[in-house]
Amino acid sequence: MARFLQIAEGSRVATARDILRILEEPALDAPVEECATALKQELFGNEIHLRGILEFSNICTRRCAYCGIRAGAKGVQRYRMAVQEVIERARLIQELGYGTLVLQGGEDPQFGLEEIVQVVRAVKQETPIAITLSIGEFTEEEYRIVRQAGADRVLLRFETCSAPLYSRHHPDSSLAERISVLHSIRRAGFQTGTGFLIGLPGADLMELASNIVFTSRFQPDMIGVGPYIPAGEVETTLPRFRPEIYFKTISLLRILNPKAHLPATTAFDSFAPGGRERLLRTSCNVFMPNITPKKYRDLYHLYPQKSCVDAQCWHFTKMDDTLQRLGLKRATGPGHSLLEKRGGPETPLFLQENATRFGPNSIPQGEPPSRRVK
Ligand code: 5AD
Repeated sequence: MARFLQIAEGSRVATARDILRILEEPALDAPVEECATALKQELFGNEIHLRGILEFSNICTRRCAYCGIRAGAKGVQRYRMAVQEVIERARLIQELGYGTLVLQGGEDPQFGLEEIVQVVRAVKQETPIAITLSIGEFTEEEYRIVRQAGADRVLLRFETCSAPLYSRHHPDSSLAERISVLHSIRRAGFQTGTGFLIGLPGADLMELASNIVFTSRFQPDMIGVGPYIPAGEVETTLPRFRPEIYFKTISLLRILNPKAHLPATTAFDSFAPGGRERLLRTSCNVFMPNITPKKYRDLYHLYPQKSCVDAQCWHFTKMDDTLQRLGLKRATGPGHSLLEKRGGPETPLFLQENATRFGPNSIPQGEPPSRRVK
């Protein structure tokens, strides 16, 4: 326990090797989870923040190999909600008592900056809810415009901090660009969320340990991490690590980032029955019920089996019952970041230190080019 608390004192203490050793040791599975649970309890009690997630478009110009809605994917029926439809849904979730609306969509040029700004302005004018955007990459100037319009937070996973692996899965960009975009988001004044996929084909335990350290050194306000679920064009072997490693990853992230908002992500239910419940009971303090209208929800398949995990007890109208059953309760208010001082200055340093392993492309250079074709 002392060792974990020492790690929790600051991510400076933890190196990828420390984390690797902890991950590799099955005898530490339970103590790590207990430590994370105690920390979560101390900071958040039994309160869970609910964020309603609305998947407004499954049209995407990117070709991320692992993603079910990547450009060119066969057999995907594409949809794009109308701006007005999105605004109406936002009203509904506010009426239901949600403090945050999360807008998620593919990188769809027809639901680009202009449309996002329209939605943000309207929702912010009419309701007190916080808005989180999970909309892929924009330029810093574009992020500033959306921030000005009133959006509060942005989520952008870096997916993997190995530059070669990143390039293998993302034919349209590089890790350096991704990291550079993350820093733009923070500079534009957003509460910033990031994270990665656990067990991406080609990843090993050292990559996982490095992702955990990289995330923690960035000092994110929110962290979004989930298992890779076979989809798209890549291999379908699962799991790549012992199943406990996946849960231990989330526990370690809580220990290294005690104050971060940490959601129990949807993919954990596709990975293991009851996966999200376990995370809510232990390390996680956020849940994101899917509020996408049914007719679209079944089309937003980032991976197979995704739509069914939101049925029954996880339906957004049933959330209070589900939380109560777990001995938890809904937190009130928007659930903004608990971090006073934001930003991990060490991120570029970490990449430099690891340049031999991750390749020179992992060092961010300059501003990202605009990839938004309008
Ligand atoms: N399995 C799990 N998560 C996935 N995502 C995309 N494809 C998959 C998959 N096959 C995740 C990515 C992205 C988020 C919106 O969805 O990490 O950042």
